[in-house]
Amino acid sequence: ADKPANTAPADEPAGKKIVVGFAQIGAESGWRDAETASIKDTFGNDPAFELKFSDAQQKQENQIKAIRSFIAQKVDAIGLAPVVESGWETVLKEAKDAGIPVFLLDRGITAGNEDLYTSFIGSDFILEGENAAKWMLDEFGADAQVNIVQLEGTVGASAANDRKKGFEDAIAGNAGYKIVYSQTGDFTRAKGKEVMEAYLKKDKNIQVVYAHNDDMALGAIQAIEEAGLKPGTDIKIIGVDGVKGAFEAIAEGKMNVTVECNPLLGPQLKQAILDYQAGKELPKWIKSEEDVYFGQKAIDALPNRQY
Ligand code: AHR
Repeated sequence: ADKPANTAPADEPAGKKIVVGFAQIGAESGWRDAETASIKDTFGNDPAFELKFSDAQQKQENQIKAIRSFIAQKVDAIGLAPVVESGWETVLKEAKDAGIPVFLLDRGITAGNEDLYTSFIGSDFILEGENAAKWMLDEFGADAQVNIVQLEGTVGASAANDRKKGFEDAIAGNAGYKIVYSQTGDFTRAKGKEVMEAYLKKDKNIQVVYAHNDDMALGAIQAIEEAGLKPGTDIKIIGVDGVKGAFEAIAEGKMNVTVECNPLLGPQLKQAILDYQAGKELPKWIKSEEDVYFGQKAIDALPNRQY
């Protein structure tokens, strides 16, 4: 018990695999599928590792159960993409007490709990929201009158909270920019479409849809077309993620911009685990580098998109 937490046990036989438990959220979006594939490919193709993968079907309780099962199986490291920010203290303390390092992937947990995980690997969601707002302000001008529908991600998720905050703070000083409706679409295409459909029945005086992910943006595009309007022209469409479908929609003129969010985090997770086992000091936040794609830049990038 008094051995330092970040050294491999001395009594481990040589050649023993590094066992990693990963508690995934689910399969709600193209982005999530790409993240899962990245993790499975990275660990599945490396004989030094064994991956135990759990899909929580969007439920925090299932993620908590998976973590407890990983602890019981004495895995060497746990990866967690937390579906929501709050409610992790007890189970992460159990992992800590068992001496198992936890790496948060993609989404964060409530501030103040930094001692409960080793590193967070992922994006700056506030910056993504700011970048979405910046594109819009550049497009319409600071003094324009712009009605916005915001399609929010999963309630309580850091990706939703921070993308909302970054965007709303960035337009707070521009009186003409009004969020006329803001509703969760749970990061899925079907709900993005459903929310947009319902809103368009009441009001069509919208200039922008800001969706917290591309899947919801693509769902909204369908709803807008079915309502007889032209997405990308009558209503500008902003998404986040940078999935191929968004690049295709931009090339077709139906979507305007996607703020990239990198899901290919498997290699970084593997490196972080190896560094941890080698006793290296890890940054608390291993931040993804991302871009913003619109117009010709998006069209040029489409053939090389990996997800
Ligand atoms: O946490 C990242 C978000 O989760 C992605 O933007 C979204 O597509 C996914 O469901």
